Amino acid sequence: MPKVAPSILAADFAKLKEEIDSIQNADYLHFDVMDGMFVENISFGLPVLESVRKVTGMVLDVHLMIASPARYTARFAKAGADIINFHIEAETEQNIKNAITELHGMGKKAGLTIKPNTPVEVLLPYIDILDLILVMTVEPGYGGQKFKSEMLEKVTQLRKIIDVKKLNCEIEVDGGINIETAKQCVNAGADVLVAGVDIFKAPSRAEHIKSLQNLRP
Ligand code: DX5
Ligand code: ZN
Repeated sequence: MPKVAPSILAADFAKLKEEIDSIQNADYLHFDVMDGMFVENISFGLPVLESVRKVTGMVLDVHLMIASPARYTARFAKAGADIINFHIEAETEQNIKNAITELHGMGKKAGLTIKPNTPVEVLLPYIDILDLILVMTVEPGYGGQKFKSEMLEKVTQLRKIIDVKKLNCEIEVDGGINIETAKQCVNAGADVLVAGVDIFKAPSRAEHIKSLQNLRP
């Protein structure tokens, strides 16, 4: 049963509490942080996360699309994130390892994210200590883009590695996810489906989340 992580980037921020209440049956709440440097767009950051933490007990899955993310991983953890994902392209090997160790020491989950042009192999030095790998299925920066089906091969590759090594590492996909593309991702071995526009524009968000959770390989 795949987990579903609605991306509140697609929510109406003027009524964020109601928007969060409307996706309560989801598994994680996906929180996209953009700095206008690592990606062109700017979204929201620490103060918004602190406010969200106060109004929900949901698992907060933070996706940092920021330059030199290790500067901020502990601060997002303190602000209430449960899972902190950051981009492997944005950090040095030493900083990545230190940040993962620090997050684990704080009782948090750590994830690494790869952009569409980044191969799976770069994750190998960290894979044994990761709780989650986020495979971007669009270029990071904006919601509502078209799913890149070439990314499915990466999910298949990762599924094999994780199963062979018997690791407790979830594979999450993010970008252009709808029922059709979600099915393909689940077939390839994805554990967590992030979806923004597809969930927030659905007539019944709760029903739509259920349909995604009910997909089977
Ligand atoms: C894109 C973000 C995504 C985005 C997904 O950079 O990481 O989480 O919100 O949006 P949809 O599902 O609309 O493609
Ligand atoms: Zn995201």
